Formats: sequence, C-alpha cells, structure tokens
Amino acid sequence: MLVELNYPLQAHNSFGISAKAMQLVRIHTEADVHAVLADPALRAAPKFVLGGGSNIVLTGDVKPLVLKVEMKGMQLVKETDKAWIVEAGAGENWHALVQWTLQNGWPGLENMALIPGTVGASPVQNIGAYGVELQDRFESLDGIDLRTGAHFTLNHAQCAFGYRDSVFKHGQDAATGASSHMGLAGRGLITRVRLSLPKRWKPVLDYADLERKMQETGNHTPNAQQIFDWVCEVRRAKLPDPAVMGNAGSFFKNPTVTPEQCEDIIAREPKVVHYVLADGRIKLAAGWLIDACGWKGKTVGNAGVYDKQALVLVNRGGRDNPCTGGEVMTLAKAIQTSVYERFGIRLEPEPVVV
Ligand code: EPU
Repeated sequence: MLVELNYPLQAHNSFGISAKAMQLVRIHTEADVHAVLADPALRAAPKFVLGGGSNIVLTGDVKPLVLKVEMKGMQLVKETDKAWIVEAGAGENWHALVQWTLQNGWPGLENMALIPGTVGASPVQNIGAYGVELQDRFESLDGIDLRTGAHFTLNHAQCAFGYRDSVFKHGQDAATGASSHMGLAGRGLITRVRLSLPKRWKPVLDYADLERKMQETGNHTPNAQQIFDWVCEVRRAKLPDPAVMGNAGSFFKNPTVTPEQCEDIIAREPKVVHYVLADGRIKLAAGWLIDACGWKGKTVGNAGVYDKQALVLVNRGGRDNPCTGGEVMTLAKAIQTSVYERFGIRLEPEPVVV
C-alpha cells in the first residue's frame, strides 16, 4: 500500500482550491481498503473519502487520511422483463456512465447528463437534475464500513434518500449511538452502485427548460439521446464548466417553506419562483432569492457569484491565483445573512466543507 504524503488536491476539487492531503491512499479494490484498516498506523486515523471532489470546499490542508476512490468498471449485471440493471465502480465518472448507458440503448439517466463527480458520490447527496433524481433509478449499492471493515449492501429504503440527502449525510446520534438513518457519514465507503433502467421508458419533460426546448425545436416526442443533448445544452448555457471556471455546482439547497410562509413572501415579493411539492409544502428557488438580493457577479477576494446563475459560487482566480475555501465560506455566509434579513429564510449549503 502506497501512502502519498503532501499530495496536491487542486486538480481533485472542482473549485480548483489549492490545498494538500497530508496523507492519501488510492483505493482501486476492496483489498486496498482492508490494507488501510490492517495498518496499525492508519486503522484508527480519521478518514475522508474523496470521489471527484465536485461537492467539497477545502478550507485548508486535509488532515484526515484521504481515501481517493478509483474503483472502475461498468457492466450490465442483470436483465429482467422490466429493467436493465447496470453496475458501476464508485470511481467511474458519472457523465461517462450516463453516456455509456445511452450508447447501449438503456435510457433513463439522460436528464442527469453532465453532472460533475463520480458514481460513488452520486447516492451520497442523491444527485438530481431536470426532474429526475438518482433515487428514481437506484437499485442498490455496495460499500465497506471504515470502522469495522465489514462489507455491506444497501437497498433503496436503507439509503433513506431525500432531496440532496441520504444515509451517507447523517452521523450517529452522539448521545445514544443510535440513528434512524444508520448514520454512515464519515464511515461508509461506497464501492459499487447499481442502477435500474426501465424498459418501459418514459421521457421526463416537465421541467421548464426542457419544455422550452420542445417549443423551440418543435420536437414534442424526443428520444433519450435528444433529451441528453438538450440537458447538455441547457447546462452548458447556465452552469460554468469546472474545467474553465472552478465551482461546486449549486452552493445552496432550494429551501422548503410552509404555504403560510410562502404567502407571506409572495405578499412582499410577488415574483418569487416557487413550486408546490407533493406533501403541500413549497420549494423556493434559492437562486432567485440570492439574485433578488443583488448578489450576481459579486466577489469576496477571488470567490464570486456566477453571473448567469446566482446559486453557483465560482473561483475567479483560475488555477494560478485560486480563491481560498475561507473566501468561499465568507461569501456564502454573507449571502445567507442577506437572504435571511430580506426573506427570513436560512439557506443551507450543499457542499461538504472540509
Ligand atoms: N433563478 C433566478 N436567478 C438566478 C438563478 C435562478 O431567477 O440567479 C430562477 C430561475 O429563473 C428559475 C429558478 O430560479 O426560475 C430555478 O433555477 P434553475 O432552473 O436554474 O434550477 P435551480 O433550482 O437553481 C436545481 C438544482 C441543480 C439542477 C437544476 C436543474 C438544487 C440546489 N439545484 O437548480 O443542481 O441542475 O435544478 O434541475 O437543487 C447541483 O445540485 O449542483 C445542481 C446544479
């Protein structure tokens, strides 16, 4: 087992923040995890699992042992009357998996095209875009408990998916040691993910941006490849390419409020963008709230608010003079304060702050 010391992480976080991992081990197989857990010096060390680094803010050098998941492989593992079940190694690139499934004629992931990051990270925050979330296509996953070395397989219910949420975002209850979510945060290393791609495929086209594409092109019965192309076009127009301008996608979750709270806001701000959820609560567009507070284009040091989508914070200094995690967090806190003062809403960050 090779332990790499002072390993530079700038190329391994999509913000392009400059920081080092004090110690880093690459994980290619389950045996690599067991080698770490068998090592007397590393066994008990705090650990940080790194995938594509597309949803993290590094605020300094990383002291916990970094386990960089590089497990590869994509295969069809099962075919039933209803679905194709595909399996991918946690270290595969998510977008490459989406492309591979479409090339094989297995639709279902097209709305989630171009989401940065790895397959292993996709269930952690239940990635989603344009009306489809990972949980809509999820079958099961394999992982290893970093405290015990035990292998586990979780089905859909055991992952406890929610909006940008899962069992992997919750720790154990400090007082009782128990957790309704099993508490796998900082503990479960995902090795493989299986997805179920329905044979009776139905396009998901309710999202405003895709409806607009249908109007523009006159194509009201797009196939999966066409939807994939549209989603890529929409994302490229709205979201900065991390290879060109560092970012971690949406920086805040879209907050939910009660109908009463929403009425109150609409009375003051009639244009607020909102959607009614199945349970009657209302989801507000965080990007709109931030935009309404005048944040588009603003900066703190080399961290800034993207000018085409206020929900995205960006690195304006590029590779040579990158923003720091501290600048990103200062900007994020200032945004939270101004949205709270104007709307009474507390925005919750989406990325993990390390
Ligand atoms: N809006 C503004 N000003 C802005 C930004 C947005 O007025 O600066 C308005 C838009 O006009 C639109 C609404 O807010 O009416 C929502 O914006 P958009 O359609 O761009 O989607 P979003 O809610 O900002 C979410 C996800 C994205 C996902 C898109 C498409 C979250 C936190 N973000 O963004 O996910 O790609 O929907 O489904 O749920 C990510 O999580 O990293 C991410 C990019």
